[in-house]
Amino acid sequence: MPSPVPMTAAPPPQSWTHLKENYQHIRQGSLDLTHTMCVEDQIIQSMPDVSPTKWHLGHTTWFFERLILKSFASGYEDFDPNFDYLFNSYYYTIGQMHFRPNRGLLSRPTLADVHAYRAFVDAAMVTLLDQYSGDAVGEIADKLIIGLQHEQQHQELMLTDIKHVLAQNPFFPALFTAPPRPSEDEDGSILDWLRFEGGLVSLGYDADEDGPFAYDNEGPAHKTWLDPFYLASRPVTNGDYRRFIEDGGYADVRLWLSDGWAKITAENWTHPLYWVREEGQWFEFGLDGLQPLNPDAPVSHLSYYEAQAFAHWADRMWPGVRLPREAEWEYAARQAAQHAGDRAENQAQHGNLLDIQRLKQDGIAPTPRPAVAAETADSAKRQSLCGNVWCWTQSAYSPYPGFRPLEGPLGEYNGKFMSGQLVLKGGSCYTPRDHNRLSYRNFFPPDARWQMTGLRLARDL
Ligand SMILES: [Fe+2]
Repeated sequence: MPSPVPMTAAPPPQSWTHLKENYQHIRQGSLDLTHTMCVEDQIIQSMPDVSPTKWHLGHTTWFFERLILKSFASGYEDFDPNFDYLFNSYYYTIGQMHFRPNRGLLSRPTLADVHAYRAFVDAAMVTLLDQYSGDAVGEIADKLIIGLQHEQQHQELMLTDIKHVLAQNPFFPALFTAPPRPSEDEDGSILDWLRFEGGLVSLGYDADEDGPFAYDNEGPAHKTWLDPFYLASRPVTNGDYRRFIEDGGYADVRLWLSDGWAKITAENWTHPLYWVREEGQWFEFGLDGLQPLNPDAPVSHLSYYEAQAFAHWADRMWPGVRLPREAEWEYAARQAAQHAGDRAENQAQHGNLLDIQRLKQDGIAPTPRPAVAAETADSAKRQSLCGNVWCWTQSAYSPYPGFRPLEGPLGEYNGKFMSGQLVLKGGSCYTPRDHNRLSYRNFFPPDARWQMTGLRLARDL
């Protein structure tokens, strides 16, 4: 049975050059994300789920060293043999690793050491790509592409993690400047319902539509049945969520899943992770520091439990409202692509996603932006599913029919996490633009909320 993951064939010479350029571009992007951070910012681990920036920079480098250079670069010698232990994340088939919650306790290697490690590995990678003449060109290309996708995943984690680190500071330091705020009369807050007919629909990665790469967990493509449903024309906003809070949402046990209620009472959660109340006003912490809450922007940093409780509360206004299923979201997004005459690959890159080069140039913080204005045409609303916040779905992160993980250590990348987690769709303002796909299956446990996560409501007809 063939692997569900697209494996690139040996590239012709011009695409080999393209791969090298892509390698250099994406690797530089990780460093660019750190250009407004000081050394001290980059060594802190504020909770077990958060990794220090320094660790992200080292781990993504180790990925190329361990999976490509050690196998294919003749005569390659480790930059530092201890790094196999320090920068392995969870690949037990490779070896043991440093205890994750203690990543922030390492003053050595220094940040300068890690930068030198990156330069060493990058030079070796470029030499390999320039000089390799063996018969493993296809395998190198496959692993290189996975390594770059992996690096982009960590670019998003670098932003979510540094945000959590800086949020521990009572003076809420900013890494970037705040984006301009919309004028008062620009109201994107009215929610409409878009109808989708469903039927027997296709779910999962399609190389013709989604581009040349997908992780193993995005396939195989398969059919699934959807009854007709509505999807909201925009994500739930801060203003919507504030009404839920003011209506006593966090104190009403009837709205919550049992595990969710246990979590919010044990942790005393009464608002989204980065909301701060001062003198009767709500503020929100972001990479632009502490800013007045923007009621029209999508609500972010919610756990699944909070998203689910909101949907339960909103049923009073819209009977039958709920979180979307994974298949509903993807089908709706593919319908939007068809409606726009666009390939899914392009459609996935529309929306408020991360552009690292622009961020470095203008220094304006990536942040969720107000949803599509109410008067905008229906077709535009249907193009707005991607970006801003990852949308929680009610679908368990479980294997698609016929799923098989990759062979070797990369088989540990996705498949072994298929229990106790929910699927999120759509990418966020922290997701590198060309990393997003309609078939992408992000996943987190239901209590996770340090990621850029929000929700878009669905509704039964
Ligand atoms: Fe990783």
